[in-house]
Amino acid sequence: MSRDNAKGTPGAGAGPFRNSTILVTGGAGFIGSNFIRTVLSRDDFRGTIVNYDKLTYAGNLSSLVDVEAKHGGSKYFFERGDICDGNKLREVIGRHNITVIVHFAAESHVDRSITGPAAFVETNINGTFQLLETAREVWNKRQDVRFHHVSTDEVYGSLGPTGSFLETTPYDPRSPYSASKAASDHLVRAYYHTYGLPVTLSNCSNNYGPFHFPEKLIPLMILNALEGKPLPVYGDGQNVRDWLYVVDHCEAVWSIVEQGRAGETYNVGGECERKNIEVVLSLCDTLDRLCPVTANPRLAGRKDLGSYRDLITYVADRPGHDRRYAINCDKIKSELGWKQRHTFETGLRETVQWYLDNRAWVDTVRSGEYLKWLDQNYSKRSS
Ligand code: NAD
Ligand code: DAU
Repeated sequence: MSRDNAKGTPGAGAGPFRNSTILVTGGAGFIGSNFIRTVLSRDDFRGTIVNYDKLTYAGNLSSLVDVEAKHGGSKYFFERGDICDGNKLREVIGRHNITVIVHFAAESHVDRSITGPAAFVETNINGTFQLLETAREVWNKRQDVRFHHVSTDEVYGSLGPTGSFLETTPYDPRSPYSASKAASDHLVRAYYHTYGLPVTLSNCSNNYGPFHFPEKLIPLMILNALEGKPLPVYGDGQNVRDWLYVVDHCEAVWSIVEQGRAGETYNVGGECERKNIEVVLSLCDTLDRLCPVTANPRLAGRKDLGSYRDLITYVADRPGHDRRYAINCDKIKSELGWKQRHTFETGLRETVQWYLDNRAWVDTVRSGEYLKWLDQNYSKRSS
């Protein structure tokens, strides 16, 4: 299928949902906020987006101030709500005449699922169930609608040194986070087979980019480095992740919404495997170029630091730490014509520069609760 587009937005063609009103759950989070911005900036999108978000610690409307300023009250609306609240969902879906749901809302951090799994079962499993039930009830067997479920490569488990995950790879989740996402994926497929709800699913590898909450590896390392704090590498640093720039993921999700076949799953990945220690070294080198230690006012007087690399510290490993993920995304490439547009090098440079330029956003999202959790998590991890 063609990605040709005279105005430069990928995936242009005769998509059925570009005039629709779309409910984006978790739209105030990292990927959800990038998705809303990406879709609303498309020349061919004439519809409306309703962002439905509970605003947990990970949800921040400060990630959407530009969207609100440009489209608020016309093409963009925010509704604060919990996906576990069926009454609220029914009311919002009915009032806005929603015909497409793109479901990002989740508890998303593996370390938090280890220290507090209950919220993961509640939001990721029960919340997805409530959303499916509400869609089934309100849409009442309509087929001109779409439910897209955003999932993760972690449901497939941990790889050895070779091979990659296919859409047909058996599920083998190993953390409370991935187990709860696997359960939600099974529910979504069950609603397709049992009730005929027109669903699609995507399972994506590790995202990075602007608006990434600073508990995850890449933003945590950037911000710790800039503040002269240790860069905590879990275990031996040899675990491998497959990195994808977040906007490339958003474009993949939109291409599935527009062109994907109901009932199908599409793997999405960066085809960019890196060991964790390689990622941290690349980040340090990028920071050394963009904001050298000697030019960083926060590090004035730190005679122990010649480079950000001097901050790298190995700490205790994450329990059950999956060794390697790698995604085979041939299906979405050949069937829908999607492809990654950022290399790891360009994406990482843009991301580091974004964090250098957006200190106010960082300060807003780092609430007291976030700092307390970070402190508790890392005090247990001393090397
Ligand atoms: P995030 O933690 O940054 O954002 C989650 C959002 O969901 C937040 O805005 C939060 O307020 C909202 N939310 C949480 N519980 C809610 C509830 N009960 N009701 C309504 N809203 C609620 O997550 P993210 O990194 O943007 O991930 C988004 C989705 O993509 C998740 O489903 C995740 O499993 C999946 N995913 C993430 C990655 C990644 O690398 N970040 C990769 C693959 C898949
Ligand atoms: O693979 C997709 C998944 O990627 C998503 O489903 C999850 O929502 C997302 O959080 C992410 O999970 P990871 O556990 O892979 O991401 P995280 O950024 O937490 O960690 C990336 C790797 O870096 C992992 O091997 C653990 C390691 N790590 C992480 C942190 C936070 C460290 O070594 N030190 C750290 O401080």
